[in-house]
Amino acid sequence: RRKIIIDTDVGIDDAQAIFLALADPSAEILAITCVGGNTLLENVCSNVLKVLTVAQRLDIPVYAGCKAPIIGNIKFGEPYHGEDGLGDCPPDILDVGPVDISMLQLEHATTVISQFTKKYPGEVSVICLAPLTNLAIAIKIDPDFTRLLKSVYIMGGNHAGEGNDTAAAEFNFYHDPEAASIVLSNCSCEVIMLGWETCSLMENRFKYSWMKESLYSRDTPQGRFIRNINNRILSSMDASLPGYDQESGFILCDEWVMALFLNPEICAKFCVWSTEVELAGRLTRGQCVVDKRFYGRSSDGKNQVRHVLALDKERMKEMLVKMVMVQ
Ligand code: BDR
Ligand code: CA
Repeated sequence: RRKIIIDTDVGIDDAQAIFLALADPSAEILAITCVGGNTLLENVCSNVLKVLTVAQRLDIPVYAGCKAPIIGNIKFGEPYHGEDGLGDCPPDILDVGPVDISMLQLEHATTVISQFTKKYPGEVSVICLAPLTNLAIAIKIDPDFTRLLKSVYIMGGNHAGEGNDTAAAEFNFYHDPEAASIVLSNCSCEVIMLGWETCSLMENRFKYSWMKESLYSRDTPQGRFIRNINNRILSSMDASLPGYDQESGFILCDEWVMALFLNPEICAKFCVWSTEVELAGRLTRGQCVVDKRFYGRSSDGKNQVRHVLALDKERMKEMLVKMVMVQ
């Protein structure tokens, strides 16, 4: 089985990405590491436990990580994910029961990432669904361990200057640009990145009617849970916010990067480009600067990132349907 660590700030799309991994028996989830991002770290940890409760997989160890980015304060994905990160669904409707926070492991996320990697050299992939604070700190603690990683999959950043959190930057990179920069500059393994432009391409969006019929109407624990966490968005469809636009459809993010790991054929096109993160720009902090001049062979060979540029939506639909069918 393919070993993964999921680093997350659950998050509606994070929750759905975790369900995707749980529905695939070929993936062995060694750990889920939590980080502040879409919501406070405390909420992220309890959200992960809720997801695992629904899937009856509380055997998977969950670790708390960094509360805040390397510089500055937590920024929150509140307009989309709700204050609690899972759409602020009333507890009696969500129906997961109180989660037992003492189920969290005692070690810190930033140390276990390298520990698992050393335990299984060359076998572990980290699937990053959140600001990259945990992985960046892990690298700072132990700069050499990434040589032993199989790969790092990142949902975040961009390749053509477009953002969702600012005009220039994607949420996960804008939340902690220093962390993103540390990760891209110091990873000695393969780095696969799915940025904002690819997720938000019109052809990669999912029609509301399809989501409703194929996913939210399933009467399984997963189906009911994702319908409930999406309810706030569905009932306040607002074309002005990313992902809310009923006509143009839902933008999925973290689900795609998980799907890319689980089923590499989801990637229909990629390019390898040297990639850095802007840390100082007045308008562009958190934006990726992608060097497209030396296609596939950067001048100095540094920061080589595989940018996913096109996706197979039909395959993805099959995976999403399978995810909610699990009994
Ligand atoms: C990313 O930001 C978060 O709000 C989502 O969970 C996803 O990881 C998309 O920009
Ligand atoms: Ca996320």
